[in-house]
Amino acid sequence: SHDVQSDLKHVLYTREQIADRIKELAAEIDRDYAGRDVLLVGVLKGAVMVMADLSRALHSHVSMDWMAVSSYGSGTQSSGVVRILKDLETDLLGKHVLIVEDIIDSGLTLSWLRTNLESRGPASVEICALLRKPAASKVDIDVKYVGYDIPNEFVVGYGLDFAEKYRNLDFIGTLAPHVYE
Ligand code: PRP
Ligand code: MN
Ligand code: MG
Repeated sequence: SHDVQSDLKHVLYTREQIADRIKELAAEIDRDYAGRDVLLVGVLKGAVMVMADLSRALHSHVSMDWMAVSSYGSGTQSSGVVRILKDLETDLLGKHVLIVEDIIDSGLTLSWLRTNLESRGPASVEICALLRKPAASKVDIDVKYVGYDIPNEFVVGYGLDFAEKYRNLDFIGTLAPHVYE
């Protein structure tokens, strides 16, 4: 009905920049896991693009599984109480688990998720997130692989939504205030 471009303020990362950064992260991950099998756990729905591109950039043997979680909270504020909407189909016992996320905002989702997955007896649990916002530093969470630390702006595209829109953009951009105000 209207042009998506007019909803955006500016481009934060182009598709080429994202692709390059993901290749760098994949090279680090390949080095660190050194031929061990990795179970990539994607967090629906935001992580689908990162998962698709990161998994294809890896040379290690990988399996993929998915979780959907929803954090209870008032409005936009995340409370840290998380509900599982879709659980993994994989038994984590003895597995090297790498959680794949699009963004860490408050950090509450990942902090809960990591504890939850660690309780299932995996060999290891690490996190790879393409974006990280400043607020995440308030939560004590060790994120091994981060694509970019970004300012506290409303970002969309490459999996990230606002009201379920803009996930399909092949770049990451900031939303124009008129869209959310
Ligand atoms: C977004 C994002 C992360 C989470 C980060 O997911 O994809 O999963 O919020 O927020 P936090 O660090 O403050 O916990 P959302 O709940 O919007 O679901 P979606 O992935 O389906 O968009
Ligand atoms: Mn998400
Ligand atoms: Mg969302």
